[in-house]
Amino acid sequence: MKKLLILPVMALAVACAEPQKPVASTDIIPLPQHIHIYDEDDPDYAVFELNNNTIIVADNEDNFNANYLQSYLKNLINADFEIDTLPIEKNYIELIVVEKVHWTDFGLPVNDEAYYLRVDESEIDIYALTEKGIFYGIQTLLQLLPDDIYMNAQKKLKKCALPSMVIKDYPRFEYRAMMLDCSRTFYDVDYIKHFIDGLAYHKINNFHWHLTDDQGWRIEIDKYPKLTELGAWRGENEALMPAYSSGMERNGGFYSKEQIKDIVKYASDRNVNIIPEIDLPGHSKAVAVAYPEIVCPIDNVHLSVQGESNNVWCVAREENYDMLEDIIVEMLDLFPSKIYNIGADEVNMNSWKDCPHCQKLMKEKGMKQLVELQNYFVRRMEAILNKHGKVMAGWDEILDGGKLLPDTRVHAWQNLERGIKSVKAGHPTVMQVSQYMYFDMKQSEGERGLRWAGIVPLEKVYEFDPIGAFTLNDEEKKLVLGVEGGLWTECGQVDWYADYQMFPKICALSEIGWTNFDKRNVDDFKKRLFNSHLERLYNMDFKFRVNPPVVTYENGQLVAEKDFEFLEIRYTNDKSDPTKISLLYETPITTDNPENYRFAAFYKERSSVVRGADNVDLYKFMSPKTKVESNVPTNENINDLVDYNFWTYCNTSRKINEGDYFLFTFEQPVECSKIWMATGHYTLGIIGIPNGNIEFSYDGVNFERGSDFFHDDFDGYIAECYPVKPVKAVRINVTGIGEGELAIIQDLRIEP
Ligand code: ACM
Ligand code: ZN
Repeated sequence: MKKLLILPVMALAVACAEPQKPVASTDIIPLPQHIHIYDEDDPDYAVFELNNNTIIVADNEDNFNANYLQSYLKNLINADFEIDTLPIEKNYIELIVVEKVHWTDFGLPVNDEAYYLRVDESEIDIYALTEKGIFYGIQTLLQLLPDDIYMNAQKKLKKCALPSMVIKDYPRFEYRAMMLDCSRTFYDVDYIKHFIDGLAYHKINNFHWHLTDDQGWRIEIDKYPKLTELGAWRGENEALMPAYSSGMERNGGFYSKEQIKDIVKYASDRNVNIIPEIDLPGHSKAVAVAYPEIVCPIDNVHLSVQGESNNVWCVAREENYDMLEDIIVEMLDLFPSKIYNIGADEVNMNSWKDCPHCQKLMKEKGMKQLVELQNYFVRRMEAILNKHGKVMAGWDEILDGGKLLPDTRVHAWQNLERGIKSVKAGHPTVMQVSQYMYFDMKQSEGERGLRWAGIVPLEKVYEFDPIGAFTLNDEEKKLVLGVEGGLWTECGQVDWYADYQMFPKICALSEIGWTNFDKRNVDDFKKRLFNSHLERLYNMDFKFRVNPPVVTYENGQLVAEKDFEFLEIRYTNDKSDPTKISLLYETPITTDNPENYRFAAFYKERSSVVRGADNVDLYKFMSPKTKVESNVPTNENINDLVDYNFWTYCNTSRKINEGDYFLFTFEQPVECSKIWMATGHYTLGIIGIPNGNIEFSYDGVNFERGSDFFHDDFDGYIAECYPVKPVKAVRINVTGIGEGELAIIQDLRIEP
């Protein structure tokens, strides 16, 4: 880690309580490149007073930025903040787009997003080359003002003071982005706007909108109405099966053309470009259920890594390209972005191997490997997009199987090496390396989430450097456009998920993209975040994550630690989840039963996830000798279900349905208080048994009913029973369809 830039003034800032004395926070995220705040000993020290006579000066009264600023200032102070076009003598905030010839005077690079912010006694000036720069100057100004500015404060201030200062700021990378998967989980227009606000506040200028995948097609296309009539909905009676705990009810949705236009305008006003992604030629189950003719005509079932079959476009079917061009043409009206993303990740190419048409095409073109067919498809899409004035982007698999046009943009996601490969091949490259930038990964061991790219806490995200992570020459460095975070939403069927996974990681992302590397320091970042920025996020209504307490049990005492002093730790001693009114943890707790204690950290009323002591087995599950039988074939050895190792589980090798069962018979009757089974991936809670129940038997012959399977945010679908005598056998009964091509069954959990 390079040396920390010492800001000239960290202790100065705004004061808005009366009487006036500016004592403020320069806790700005992303950290500006240069910031100088005058202190009282400086001859240039002065105080600007924002009050109910302050005026905003802009080039016209309808100027978006002026109106945007006005609406925030009104949150804070009960005033009109009139917008005027004429300079006045004092007490104004001036937003000035400067001509290029004058820009050099400001000592800033020629950059559309750069801004110069100056505060003196009579005015606040924001200068920039474009309205984009002005918008970012406003974002910084909002952070200099009290954090109530982000909400309609109940008690308005009369006035508010800022010390004199100069901030000169510009981004390190031109491309700063976040991807949101709206296919696996559908987010409504309000959420998308809230998300876009979150990007704009952090000077992130691109939203990569993952609009289609196996689990839902989300864009209205007039020529192919079934894409959304059938492909946008999952459920028991829908064309698309339930998936990822979406339940049996009709679930999903799509964005109408009007809604998309509205969102694109909303984003554009806030300097966020929207890059649409339609994921092709794999990840296309939602298209295939609506238009089955697009996939290869084969009987074999080939499952993708996510367990989907028949979800890959046939490369050799010429009509497919007509359909795809029609779709692109309709999208042109909706998305002005120069860049369109066509996905191309994780294609299961085996269906092409079995398809007579694809095989014929391979022969005609002299192709030896299936991946050349993928390149053929990608090049066709590249040509369609180019014909319509667009540049193609795709996941890093587009590098495989042949060449691409030089301008084609690659998102390096699999690992750092793919980023190097892309840059060495001469392509503009977005560093979206999953080991740092996939915000769907678990943030700590005990939390819900995926972990195939590792456990990715906030600090790991912050550590990433899109250039420094590689050995690149200067030309190659220029090809690194910037950085992008991504949120996949397989686990998104709980309403807290998206904000929780993305915030405050988006704050770290913003600083990676914006602030020069030599000015970045993780401790300083966390200080700014905790001292000021979390409260801003709170006022903006982002349901951000806070670290759960770290709890250890030593020498008969439970010790809980928090990573931010304003957090409260609360606890229970009966295994229940702590609430805001549970006992407040202040000093170590002496106990012989640490397994009964649960802890959570609270930011105001918002809880972290619940934790027990890391070094204590919270559940003492029994592991009796057990035999298991089922009528369902499994991919793994079914005896993995009776090893009582919860990291081993079984995938069924076909869909489950009514009548399927799993019977567990204990060698000796087991005396226990509770038996339960979680289904789905361990700690992901997806792809379990949504329809079914648990039964138990004292004699192995007559069974009594326990609960039906019900959904749990952390453990997926669970069923449980409470025997009162030693149990001889337990049976899991499936009573309806599952979630897709397979189901995941875990070991029984037997509590003494
Ligand atoms: C990806 O994560 N499949 C791009
Ligand atoms: Zn084919």
